[in-house]
Amino acid sequence: MTRRTVVTLPGDGIGSIVLPEALRVLEAVGFDAEYVEAGIGWEHWVNEGNPLPERTVELIAEHKVALFGAITSKPKDKAAAELKPELRGKGFVYFSPIVGLRQRFNLDISIRPCIAFPGNPLNFIRRGPSGEVQEPPVNAVIFRQNTEGLYSGVEWTNPPADLRRAMAQHPKFEPFVDVPGEDLAISSRIFTRTACRRICEQAFAYADAHGYDSVTICEKPNVLRETSGMMVEEGRRVHERYPKIALYETNIDAQMMWLTKNPEDYGVIIAGNLFGDIISDGFAGLVGGLGFAASANIGTGVGVFEPTHGSAPKYAELDPPIVNPIAMILAAAMMLDWLGETDRAARIRNAVAAVIAGGKVRTYDMMKLRGGPQVIAQGAATTTQMTDAIIANLS
Ligand code: NAI
Ligand code: MG
Repeated sequence: MTRRTVVTLPGDGIGSIVLPEALRVLEAVGFDAEYVEAGIGWEHWVNEGNPLPERTVELIAEHKVALFGAITSKPKDKAAAELKPELRGKGFVYFSPIVGLRQRFNLDISIRPCIAFPGNPLNFIRRGPSGEVQEPPVNAVIFRQNTEGLYSGVEWTNPPADLRRAMAQHPKFEPFVDVPGEDLAISSRIFTRTACRRICEQAFAYADAHGYDSVTICEKPNVLRETSGMMVEEGRRVHERYPKIALYETNIDAQMMWLTKNPEDYGVIIAGNLFGDIISDGFAGLVGGLGFAASANIGTGVGVFEPTHGSAPKYAELDPPIVNPIAMILAAAMMLDWLGETDRAARIRNAVAAVIAGGKVRTYDMMKLRGGPQVIAQGAATTTQMTDAIIANLS
């Protein structure tokens, strides 16, 4: 096996708590790698006016694979106010560095598996027709277009006059023509055919390789005719090459309802950027929540792997740490898969499954406790104890 170099981006808050836990598991499973840590997040915004320093970008460009913890993002005004005094008023504008990273490396394919581990007390349950409790086997993998849509960043408050003039050519802009600039905010939803096709192709190929019998395109083409319409069109086209896989088309609103009625009916799901974000958190809630949700951001030859959760600032300072490291550890397993280390990835997932099924070691979220230092006395495992248990269960 060739020795890999992996860029580690712990970031903010609990990002820097869970990422080292994943590295311990990678080491224990015998993954031979060197790690280079790179900066990302709030501290870099405050001190440099750039939450995604160029040297971090260069390291990722060089090594092609990164593990990312989480960052803290704040609204525009708050971000500007926290900039160090020398940098204020110099035109620095805050942007989310993870969104920036996805766009910078065209990491246009986001893969977010939401797969229930048997024995997880947080798994979704419902009542069947005779009142019996059912625990449907949730096994959905969301393919989220990761670089475009409403995250393209093409937005304005007080849009320039040229833009207003251009928009006024659209008959539906009529009600907005006289709205004063400072009262008019526009965020644009941009889809390109190439990106739609790529996410659909990747999703079908994944469904085929992993034995899923359906792919669902979850958009809103009845209202968002142009953007959602293009995604559906491309999905249907790619589907022609996969006659054995069923194609479903759902609307995001109805899908959010169905995900708690019949989640077991869904396999691979395709969605644009914002709907993909929403639906992946929704499905994550059925399999234990953010403590269990891992994701991959894949571009051409570059992969960045991260838990879906954010920096959870209110838990960042607790000593000992209490947050669940499983999402980050599963993200590391996704990285191994992507690197072709599928056996090691499977061993990690099996170890996580064994700890969950064993039911003895549970972080506070698995016990449905309110987070805080008291959870340890209430029997919750610390972050490190959870990792230790996973390592002890590696085959
Ligand atoms: P969050 O994901 O940080 O936390 C929401 C809640 O989920 C927490 O309060 C906690 O109850 C639970 N949670 C999250 N991770 C957990 C874990 N590992 N174990 C147990 N429970 C866990 O989202 P929130 O509070 O909306 O945002 C906090 C900050 O994170 C914001 O600044 C936001 O912008 C940022 N964020 C960053 C993301 C990223 O780096 N990719 C993604 C989402 C939010
Ligand atoms: Mg999200």
